[in-house]
Amino acid sequence: MANLNKLPTVSSYHPAAKFQHWLMAAIWIGAWVIGFIAVHFRDELNPHHQLTFLHKAIASTVLFLSAVRIAWRITHPLPALPATMSPAMQRAAHFGHYALYAFALIALPLSGWMWSSVADKPIMVLGLVQLPPLVGPAPQYYDLAKLVHQLLAWSLGMMVLGHAAAALKHHLVHKDGVLLSMLPGRGRKG
Ligand code: HEM
Ligand code: HEM
Repeated sequence: MANLNKLPTVSSYHPAAKFQHWLMAAIWIGAWVIGFIAVHFRDELNPHHQLTFLHKAIASTVLFLSAVRIAWRITHPLPALPATMSPAMQRAAHFGHYALYAFALIALPLSGWMWSSVADKPIMVLGLVQLPPLVGPAPQYYDLAKLVHQLLAWSLGMMVLGHAAAALKHHLVHKDGVLLSMLPGRGRKG
């Protein structure tokens, strides 16, 4: 994927890329919070698994949106990082973004899909269309599949927090326009 950065650079993300980023960020954070409440407030707020249904209905859209987003990303230029960032920091930032694509946008929803598959539970995308199971029912793998989804959900929750904090630090401390390049109607100076 490193070659993608050889595309010509622009001063701001394309409006469509911004729309995809913020739509998916809202879905992702919403799915995380609903998944958390579904598990940890089960008796009070999720007695009939309605929040589990909602979690799966929303979170399963991430895989489809990710496919569109990655196709867009491969074919469109993105803004260069500020020259004030060292080459090593720039590589780290790109690596972090690739990790978000690979783990937060692909591996995590896949792990949820796998968990529901081994548990023989349906996933209704947006409550409308049922996803086919990835594998047949496999109760012997239930605990493992659950653990993988929970570990990924928590570690990626931390990673997304770090990502948002880094964006805010760029804006408030470095004042280098990185956050502006992702905001609607705004761009990076220079
Ligand atoms: C196809 C997609 C997904 C499926 C089928 C799925 C499935 C599930 C299921 C069945 C649960 C347990 C709910 C319960 O016991 O009531 C759960 C929990 C959870 N999911 Fe997902 N999930 C998916 C994607 C995601 C995504 C994209 C995220 C992050 C944004 C996420 C974050 C969580 C979290 C934070 C929990 C609670 C974990 C805990 O603290 O135990 N899931 N998921
Ligand atoms: C309030 C929360 C968030 C803020 C403030 C934020 C901010 C930003 C900013 C400023 C960029 C551009 C960085 C640059 O040009 O170097 C960016 C890129 C990115 N963000 Fe976020 N983001 C947030 C939430 C999320 C979430 C929840 C996800 C996915 C789980 C996500 C995934 C990504 C990815 C994959 C990129 C790289 C885009 C690319 O270059 O292709 N972001 N974000």
